[in-house]
Amino acid sequence: MPTDWQQRYETADTPWDKGAPHPALVDFLQAQPPRGKILVPGCGLGHDVRALARVGGEVTGLDIAPGAIARAEAFAKTGGENYLCADLFDLPPDLRASFDWVWEHTCFCAIEVERRADYVRAVVTALKPGAHLLAVFYLDPGVEEGPPFGVSITELDALFSPHFEVVKEWTPQRTYAGREGREQMRLLRRRD
Ligand SMILES: C[S@@+](CC[C@H](N)C(=O)[O-])C[C@H]1O[C@@H](n2cnc3c(N)ncnc32)[C@H](O)[C@@H]1O
Repeated sequence: MPTDWQQRYETADTPWDKGAPHPALVDFLQAQPPRGKILVPGCGLGHDVRALARVGGEVTGLDIAPGAIARAEAFAKTGGENYLCADLFDLPPDLRASFDWVWEHTCFCAIEVERRADYVRAVVTALKPGAHLLAVFYLDPGVEEGPPFGVSITELDALFSPHFEVVKEWTPQRTYAGREGREQMRLLRRRD
């Protein structure tokens, strides 16, 4: 049965929320702060959104759960961020082909496995041609039943390579406790 995300927030059943941006994003931002318009799908409470906004991005945090968006909006602003309660699979027209970057972190692994092609389509739809998807993929969450749903490198290649070229990929040096060696970072560029 699909996850009721709003209910997870209402009942404070949010083990994914670590109260801080992903350490690998923090490291990336120090080396290469992305500029322009940035979309963070499935942004939750917005820790990553605020980290991206702090270094100059014009960031939209999008989440399907009103409870997540309300809590994200309650944090003090760090820069040019805004939040939107919407379904990634039904992007508002004004968000289409409008982003220079998408930051993916625990949205892809939260989506039902059979909707992964829809996820890729949604990200392609949001990005301008030649724009970037920076992602930390949860390869092996170590749970029998998701979410989070793991993914293999082979599946990532099959899903994303028709639309994206891989600019760079690496194992994050820093992550949250318990996720060591379970993730893969990828910097992808949308094909024109
Ligand atoms: C596992 S949580 C991760 C939240 C956040 N990225 C973090 O790490 O704290 C997945 C998030 O994706 C959101 N989500 C799930 N399906 C979505 C959809 N179709 N459109 C937008 N957001 C969605 C959920 O409401 C939830 O906040």
